[in-house]
Amino acid sequence: MRLVVTGGLGFIGSNFIRLVLAERAGWFVTNLDLVTYAGNPANLADLEGHGRYRFVRGDIADRNDLARAFEGGVDAVVNFAAESHVDRSILSAEPFVRTNVFGAVQLLEAARARAGCRVVHVSTDEVYGALGPADPAFTERTPMNPTSPYAASKAAADHLALAFARTYGQDVVVTRCSNNYGPYQFPEKLIPLMITNAIEGKKLPVYGDGRQVRDWIHVADHCLAVLAALERGKAGEVYNFGARAERLNVDIVSRIVVLLGVSPALVEHVADRPAHDRRYAMDAAKAERELGWRPARTFEQGLADTVRWYVEHEDWWRPVKDGSYRDFYRTWYEERTA
Ligand code: NAD
Ligand code: DAU
Repeated sequence: MRLVVTGGLGFIGSNFIRLVLAERAGWFVTNLDLVTYAGNPANLADLEGHGRYRFVRGDIADRNDLARAFEGGVDAVVNFAAESHVDRSILSAEPFVRTNVFGAVQLLEAARARAGCRVVHVSTDEVYGALGPADPAFTERTPMNPTSPYAASKAAADHLALAFARTYGQDVVVTRCSNNYGPYQFPEKLIPLMITNAIEGKKLPVYGDGRQVRDWIHVADHCLAVLAALERGKAGEVYNFGARAERLNVDIVSRIVVLLGVSPALVEHVADRPAHDRRYAMDAAKAERELGWRPARTFEQGLADTVRWYVEHEDWWRPVKDGSYRDFYRTWYEERTA
């Protein structure tokens, strides 16, 4: 298997590459990543010199970069590359359209030109929009109704991926997952932001009343699900992933406060996110039935493990929070391109 993973220096992509290299002995992985603010070489520093791993710095929206990543052959592509943060998409939608929509199309076209190349397009529950308190969980048949520019860009790419499967008979599988948490998540997202702020004695900013619900899954369970979709998913199909772990934001923040033994007075309610989706919940029955996948971790155990990981890896997140990881990157990249 010659696998190209895009966005492999980000949170989920880096966890996925590590999983694949450990679990699939004969597989070669090329990681195509633009190294935006979210792409951190430190996420895969342990793979330096690995014989079955190759890094290509490049943009999924650039055909030449895709051609470089596909050099030597490609059997499958897993597309994690994206602008992924809702709050940033509210500040400026353009980079989201560029990478998440235009980039996804360039990638689909490049894969289409390679006979037999499967594409797993990694998407999100946010394409379905928000649920009311008593609504049933999203299924793959729930109509897309995205709220934020981020979610709208992901929905557009999902439509295009499925259109390519229908129109050209291309081997494309779309996966949609709920909120991930775990090691190497960029500390702009709720759980790592709250853990690292608490360790630093900073305020814990809860948007609005904090009674929004997200459906949480450990990144390791999501990565196993993507691998199952790559190996056993049916072309043209969508698979929802989730771990039946709906939690209120305020309850998560309170739990982190308890796990770290900090003062609850750090919690501060701040202005709400515009058009903040109230609730997400995923019905993953189809993936469990057809892919033979099932999440293994409970949220309580996964959160405790994650808090411990951030406590033990200050050397990873402090340079991210103070911005100095970008200097590390410049040196790292210059050494490799000299
Ligand atoms: P992330 O922001 O941590 O990482 C994104 C990666 O993509 C970075 O390494 C970045 O450098 C790279 N990238 C960005 N633009 C690129 C481009 N034009 N070309 C090549 N590389 C580029 O994101 P994440 O949280 O790991 O999410 C990965 C994927 O999973 C995204 O598609 C996201 O929509 C989806 N997803 C995320 C979650 C979640 O909870 N984080 C849940 C469901 C789905
Ligand atoms: O649902 C899957 C999605 O989960 C992914 O597609 C996105 O890439 C990923 O970023 C995530 O989106 P969310 O908007 O749900 O995640 P975020 O961590 O930004 O916020 C989670 C919840 O916490 C949300 O209700 C907003 C709230 N929040 C977030 C931050 C950063 C706060 O209350 N305070 C904060 O400081």
